[in-house]
Formats: sequence, C-alpha cells, structure tokens
Amino acid sequence: MITLTDIAYVRSGVTDLDAAVRFATNIVGLELAAPTEPGVAHLRADHRHHCLALVEGPSGVIASGFSVADEDGLAAAETELERSGITVRRGSKEAARSRRVRAFIAFDDPFGNRLELVTQQETVTRPVAFNRTAGITEFGHLCLDAPDVHEAYRFWNGHFNARVSDWIGDAACLMRIDPVHHKLAVFKGEEPGLCHMNFQVETIDDVFRNWHFLEENGVQIEQGPGRHPQSTAVFLYFLGPEGFTYEYSFGVRRIENEGSWRPRTFDPAEPGSIDMWLGPTKRVSTQTQLRPAAVAPH
Ligand SMILES: [Fe+2]
Repeated sequence: MITLTDIAYVRSGVTDLDAAVRFATNIVGLELAAPTEPGVAHLRADHRHHCLALVEGPSGVIASGFSVADEDGLAAAETELERSGITVRRGSKEAARSRRVRAFIAFDDPFGNRLELVTQQETVTRPVAFNRTAGITEFGHLCLDAPDVHEAYRFWNGHFNARVSDWIGDAACLMRIDPVHHKLAVFKGEEPGLCHMNFQVETIDDVFRNWHFLEENGVQIEQGPGRHPQSTAVFLYFLGPEGFTYEYSFGVRRIENEGSWRPRTFDPAEPGSIDMWLGPTKRVSTQTQLRPAAVAPH
C-alpha cells in the first residue's frame, strides 16, 4: 500500500498564460512566485513553493500531484504500481525542478487522469504575499473525474491509503488521506479531468466577501454559496479561464477518530444532499485531461 502524505499540486496547461495568471492572482488571490522558467507560472497559497503551475501550451490538466514520505517510499510506489500492470515513468531532473520536488513518478489512473507522486516538495517559509485578501489559508483538496466512482475508489483504496469518508450515490466519492474529511474526491464524468481545485479560507465571512467580489468582477459563479452536508464546509465554486473551476470553502470536517467513522451515502437527487441550504446545484465545469503525448515536454 502506498501512503500519500499530502496533496502537492495541480499542473494545468493554458493557451493564454497571461490571462490565466491574471485570474489566479487578481481574482483568486494567489501569489505569483518569481518567474524562473519561460512559459511556466507558479502560484502559491501556503507553505508550498506552489500548489498550482500554469504552463503555456495546449489547454487542459497536465497532472495532479501527491506527496509520499521519501525517496524509498517513491521507489516502493514505483515497484508496486508496475507490479500491478501500471506504466510508470520517472520524471526528468528538469521536470522535477519545474515542480520544485526532488523526484517524481508519473502514471495514469484507469480512467486516464495523469497522476504524479513526488518527494520533497519545497517549502517556503516567507509568508504568502497574497495578491488580494481572499482569506486563503491553504490548498484544500482536488477533485478528479471518472466514469465510475466506485471503480475509482477501488483504485484509490486498493493502491493508496485513501479511505472513503462519504459517498454521494454514484455521483461522487469523497476520500481522506489524513483527518481532513476529503483531500481528494472523484466525481462522475465521462472524460478524465480536474473537476475543481479547492482553497480553504479562514472564516465564513471570507466566503461571502469573496462571493460579492467575484460577482462585482463578472466572474461566473458555478455553485454557492452553500453548505455541503458531508464535510459541513461552506462552499463557493467559480469558473476560471479555460474551463478551470476554483472553489473556496470554510469549515471542513475533520475525522479525528478513524475507528468510529462510518462512511455515509447521500442520494444526489434528494434535496439538500449537495447543499444543505437548498440552493440551486449544478455540475461544475471540468478541465479535461491533456493526453500524455501532448504534455511530454513538461
Ligand atoms: Fe470541493
């Protein structure tokens, strides 16, 4: 079993890098790290050097990154995945440098989502110089698409330390790798892709202040503000450039007592199963996965 210690980053291809960076900084509020390589923008939200890398090129998700404890853990993961018939590729030195990790491996889940396992993601101690005060405290979770969320759970729980926290029928599987209710989720979707990237904010007031800010700036609100009954988080989903959905949320449940937690199942058709406040719900936009051939250089 491969132990994921944390989520690490999302790497996303964009045809208009300037526009995507403007949105990530001026609207979402992230810090743009000092540029060190042409065509790549690193965005920071917490102690990580970056949690979002925008790469100039074809539009689509390049990879979703997760951390493992150390080099031995990475080598063991490589062996385990290969033994189960998954093709694993070692990242080059340059690609690892661009990700600000010591080493990484890349592979696809059974549905075509490109995943990367990394070791020694760089930490930056300097406080984050947020571009605006959205109240962001950290990169909270990422959510992938798969046509069958139960099959997806078999993959995540079979190979990794991911445990289901709650099911939303056949529509979603919310998984934890630590006490946070979900750091990873899989939503039902025909094509592989990134359903959304979440940032936690400090207070419920931040969610509502951000909502007004986004509306004033003509940003498309996809869903919310509302409250998920599973995680109890107050959420707001909004659409960034090139089909990339961002989420702010506050108040995610922590599962401190592993032994006593029983995953629950919510029927998505039941009013209140997505939003306890009974607001309008809709499937948010997914940024589709780039085919690996198109992402080889990065
Ligand atoms: Fe979310």
